[in-house]
Amino acid sequence: MSSPVESSYTYEDYKKTADWLMATIEQKPKVAIICGSGLGGLADLLQNKTVLSYKEIPDFPQSTVHGHAGQLVFGELNGKFCVCMQGRFHFYEGYSCSKVTYPVRVFSLLGVETLIVTNAAGGLNSTFKVGDIMLIKDHINFPGMAGQSPLRGPNEERFGLRFPCMSDAYDQDLLRLAKQTAEKENCVLQEGVYCMVGGPTYETVAECRLLRTLGADAVGMSTVPEVVVARHCRLRVLGLSIITNMVVSDYNCTNHANHEEVLEAIERRAKDLQKLVSNLVSQI
Ligand code: HPA
Repeated sequence: MSSPVESSYTYEDYKKTADWLMATIEQKPKVAIICGSGLGGLADLLQNKTVLSYKEIPDFPQSTVHGHAGQLVFGELNGKFCVCMQGRFHFYEGYSCSKVTYPVRVFSLLGVETLIVTNAAGGLNSTFKVGDIMLIKDHINFPGMAGQSPLRGPNEERFGLRFPCMSDAYDQDLLRLAKQTAEKENCVLQEGVYCMVGGPTYETVAECRLLRTLGADAVGMSTVPEVVVARHCRLRVLGLSIITNMVVSDYNCTNHANHEEVLEAIERRAKDLQKLVSNLVSQI
């Protein structure tokens, strides 16, 4: 008889992908890094690399966004064995939340204990500037609150609890470590709440004002589903956003959010973010 709920992946699907990867790579990673748009350069810093295109990995989703490489890169970052996702999957591309988060469960089966997520975000906090790097201390999951959760459907107990806690989603020790590392590098960090929206539209003036009122400091179209699934299977999470544009919250403003401005800001700060993550990873 067919299932009364929408179909999703089974434990065996994740296991099949993880087993294939385990047979292909030489060492199991302890840290996974999801590289946001334009931030895939981090994977180029890895030594003794094994590069696997998403196309060759059984059951792995494929990336559709221009400029996303679509590959897993395994190797050593500053002496620590890591896996980098060069090219993530976005809900706005049409992927289901379970597809967006497929890699995270695979990483957990590979023995990954820490997930680092990076992204581009619009600045809502008026003290932020374009080019700032923000540590994510908490999130607002708009799609999740509206029912689009990657954990919707039957719970897979082998990954985690039916009702997982999210009040400690972003690991306090990793936040401290990130601040200490940044201080040594004279890299100024902001800290704030990241709000995920479904996209692909940028926000209206009224939406920007709403998000600000709700206590969000930055807004973006990714990251949160992966964090939810990572916390469900008890991975420690660190999140970093590059503030690529300040949101338009005034009807008289002549600036318009656009993808080119976002990519430009990423390019300017990508190296600093890569250095920070690389130094941080060696201390995990
Ligand atoms: N809004 C939503 N997502 C974004 C933005 C924004 O202003 N900038 C970068 N990603």
